[in-house]
Parts: sequence; structure tokens; C-alpha cells
Amino acid sequence: SGLSSMLKKSLLKVGVPKEVVGFLLGWAAGEGDYPEIPEAKGSVKAIRSEAFFIPLYELYLTYGGIFRLTFGPKSFLIVSDPSIAKHILRDNSKAYSKGILAEILEFVMGTGLIPADGEVWRVRRRAIVPALHLKYVVTMISLFGQATDRLCKKLDDAASDGEDVEMESLFSRLTLDIIGKAVFNYDFDSLTNDTGIVEAVYTVLREAEDRSVSPIPVWEIPIWKDISPRQRKVSAALKLVNDTLNELVAICKRMVDEEELQFHEEYMNEQDPSILHFLLASGDDVSSKQLRDDLMTMLIAGHETSAAVLTWTFYLLSKEPSVVSKLQEEVDSVLGDRFPTIEDMKKLRYTTRVINESMRLYPQPPVLIRRSLENDMLGEYPINRGEDIFISVWNLHRSPNLWDEADKFQPERWPVDGPNPNETNQNFKYLPFGGGPRKCVGDLFASYETIVALAMLVRRFNFQMAVGAPPVEMTTGATIHTTQGLKMTVTRRIKPPIVPSLQMSTKEIDPSMSKD
Ligand code: HEM
Repeated sequence: SGLSSMLKKSLLKVGVPKEVVGFLLGWAAGEGDYPEIPEAKGSVKAIRSEAFFIPLYELYLTYGGIFRLTFGPKSFLIVSDPSIAKHILRDNSKAYSKGILAEILEFVMGTGLIPADGEVWRVRRRAIVPALHLKYVVTMISLFGQATDRLCKKLDDAASDGEDVEMESLFSRLTLDIIGKAVFNYDFDSLTNDTGIVEAVYTVLREAEDRSVSPIPVWEIPIWKDISPRQRKVSAALKLVNDTLNELVAICKRMVDEEELQFHEEYMNEQDPSILHFLLASGDDVSSKQLRDDLMTMLIAGHETSAAVLTWTFYLLSKEPSVVSKLQEEVDSVLGDRFPTIEDMKKLRYTTRVINESMRLYPQPPVLIRRSLENDMLGEYPINRGEDIFISVWNLHRSPNLWDEADKFQPERWPVDGPNPNETNQNFKYLPFGGGPRKCVGDLFASYETIVALAMLVRRFNFQMAVGAPPVEMTTGATIHTTQGLKMTVTRRIKPPIVPSLQMSTKEIDPSMSKD
């Protein structure tokens, strides 16, 4: 309308910020003279299909970088535009919470770092980030090596017996073993054993994933919890995991009380370098529920994500033998037959690019979830408080407008002598670890973990899709899974010669790989 556009002009002229004008006019004159967000009508059925981010990609090609998806009374904003993603995640991150995600994950993560918002988040982020200091991550590299070595032994047996292996579940166990040691110094040893606690962790995980794709929250119906066999199983599993956690906290507390070490910035106990140990030594309250929530959050965050990255990397490699050859050439010459060290992380450049490219094609998770806490402007569109927003990292990473041959697996698109790609140098079109204040705290940890595992596996074995393997299709929970596993045939390679390691101080580590 003429009046509102005149008012808008004068308000802007006297220096009222665009966002405020948008808010005032949106409120005073309905939609004012702003364009309306394109709207796509969806059906719950389409979104509940195997991988809900696939129909969102089709809709993105039709409706563009921001559109509204409506199902009856409920609606979501789907964002696939780098500058809007940057605005939500970084520039105006204070105006957004985790929304539905926090509601779904409450039963397992409580107010742990991933779902937490506001003051709780701020305080815990400050407590946890220092625990993942460089010296800790460097120590973790040998843990990654030992755990991958156990997997190699297992694959060695399979190669001898001529048995095919299902790699997705093996990667899940590998990363569970790693994260258990890394977070609370507990050896799940899930690659060799199927103990009750391992099964309980998986029960809890599956439940979290099912809840995140279920449109009706049946678990909220009070009696359902007591009569549904499945919900009873989930409760029992949660109890076992929590009891185990309590025991680990108690054991760790005794160690901390007995040790002589002074707490300092790069504090680490050599016998128990875990994040839990750091947190207790830094004064975290042992009896707090918050500590358990954060431990559980890191267990889940650091487990399925890394496993999914490895699974999809091996799937992509199975289709590109030339990439595998280049990879093996690099790994043979840099590592030979020894365990990887921090110095190697800088030298395994092509290996790193393979992981970078795998995380572009299969981002984990494929969408980031937010809710607006106040009215805001997204691009040219005003939005209200209380909007549920999905930032589709999948769409950003596969947009034909942002990438050459977007769907092609091409590690060469990232020059080996160029900077390590991240959200900042790619201007939010590449978000493997999110961005802004809520960026992943485990990014360096996870990068090294996947690089070590990939390098150690391809130097020892060749992997091919097994004859008669089920087709590899996607399904989602929090991360992208295969529908029927990744069945592969493993054959041994000839052992490479031993390449000695060079000593380097941690100061010389590539700074572009480290956190900001
Ligand atoms: C957050 C990805 C491994 C702990 C995130 C986010 C992403 C991500 C995209 C941002 C979520 C959002 O903005 O909504 C990944 C990937 C991993 C990985 C792809 C493996 C390849 C890890 C590991 C840990 C970890 C190993 C723990 C040691 C966390 C935590 C947060 C987080 C605690 C929440 C941070 C906050 O909200 O302040 N991760 N992650 N992640 N990640 Fe990771």
C-alpha cells in the first residue's frame, strides 16, 4: 500500500534499521509491501518417505532458496540459500533456538550442549570447548589408530575367510569404541563384544532417530510409556546407560581426587585423557544432571556422525577406483606401515580432500533445525517469531547454482595446496560442521578420526561392493543411513614399506585445520 511504503521510506531515512522497519510495518499493515515467501503444499507422507531431504531438494529447485512448506496447520521454512543460512547461524544467531530438535531429543540429551539454548548453552559451551584442546586431540590420534587397528584385524579375518562384510555397522562400532574412550574413558569394545551396554546405546540411538522422523509423538502419551513394549525397552536401555554413566563419573572423580596434577589450560591426565576427566578436574559438579546430559550428548553427537561419514566415503570410493589409487599412493608414501601421527595429518592432503568431498555429498546431519525467537528478516522476507526452520545443508551442498557438477564426487575440486574448506572460506555454501557460535565442537577431532580410519583401511585393503549386495539407498534419522547396509568384499593389499615418522612440534600444525 502507498501509505506503508511512504512510512517505510521515512523510517529508513531517519536511520531505523531495515529489520525493525520490516517488523513494524509487518505488524501495522499486515504484510506491508514485502514479498511473500513462496509456499509449497506438502503431504506428511512425502516427507516421511525414506529420506525426507530428497523431496525437499526437488522443491528447492522449484521454489528457490527459501520457501514455506505447509501440512495442514503446521508449517516449516526450508532454507537453502547460503546468505540466509549465514544470517541464521552466524550473524543473528541469538534470535534462533534449537526448537523441535530440543523437544525431540529431550528424553536422551536433556539440556545437553546440542539441544541447550540461552544461558545453559552459553555456560556449558564455555566449559566444554576447552576440554577439546589441541593436546587432547593430538593424543586422540593414537586412540583412532588403535581402534582402527582392531577393525583391520577383523577385516583381515574376513579377507582370509572370503566372507563379505557389512561396513556400516562396523563403522558404527568403530566410532562407538572411539567416542566411549574419548568422552569418558570407557571401552565399549563393541567391535569384539555385544554387551548389554552396547545394545542399550543402540536402542536409545534408534529411538532418538525414530522420534526425529515421527510426526505423532506417541511417546508423550502418559500410559503409552508403561504399556508399549518398545517404550519399556527404551526406558530400560536409558536406565542402563545412565547407571553406567554414573559409575564412570564416580570412578573418574576418585582419580581426579587422588591425582597431583594442577589444573591448567591444556590440562590432561595421561592415564585418562577423557573429556569427563577434564570437566571434573576443572570443577564440574559431579552430581549434576547437566554433566550427564552433556556426556550423553557428546556420545551420540560423536558417534553416528563419524560413522556415517566413513560409510558414505567408502560407498563413494567404491564407484571411483581412480580416486582410490591416488589415495593409496598418498597413504603408502606418507604413512607406509606405521600408525598415523599428528604430523601426518598435515601431509595426508588428498585423504583430507576425500573426506571434505564426502561430507559435501553426504552432510551429517543433512538438515539443521532452528526456531525463530523473534521477528526477523530472512533475505527480503519478514518472518515472525516462532517459525520452525530447516536449513537444508543437503541442498546447499548439492545446489547446481553453487557448484560445478554438484552431484559428482570430485575430491580434486578442492586443491590439495589450498586452504582446508570450511563454512567461512566457502561463504556458507559448505557447512559440514555447521557455523557460527553453535558450530560443532568436535570438528578437528572428527576430521582426524575419519582421516586416520580412512588412511589405515585403504593402505591395508581393497574394498569393492560385494557381488549380490543390496542396492545402496538412503534413509534418515539424525544422520543419513543406508537402507540395507553397505556390503563389501575386502581383499588384502601387499604391505607397504615402513616410512619413519618425523618429529614436529604441535606449533607447526596446519592452522587452517584448527578451530577459530
Ligand atoms: C554440533 C557435525 C562429530 C560434538 C554439530 C553441528 C554439526 C555437527 C553440523 C551443528 C549442529 C547445529 O548447528 O544444529 C558433526 C559431524 C561430525 C561431528 C559431521 C563427524 C564427522 C562430533 C564429535 C563431537 C561432536 C566427535 C564430540 C566430541 C558436537 C556438539 C555440538 C555439535 C557438542 C553442539 C555444539 C553447540 O551447539 O554448541 N556437529 N559433528 N561432534 N557437535 Fe558435531
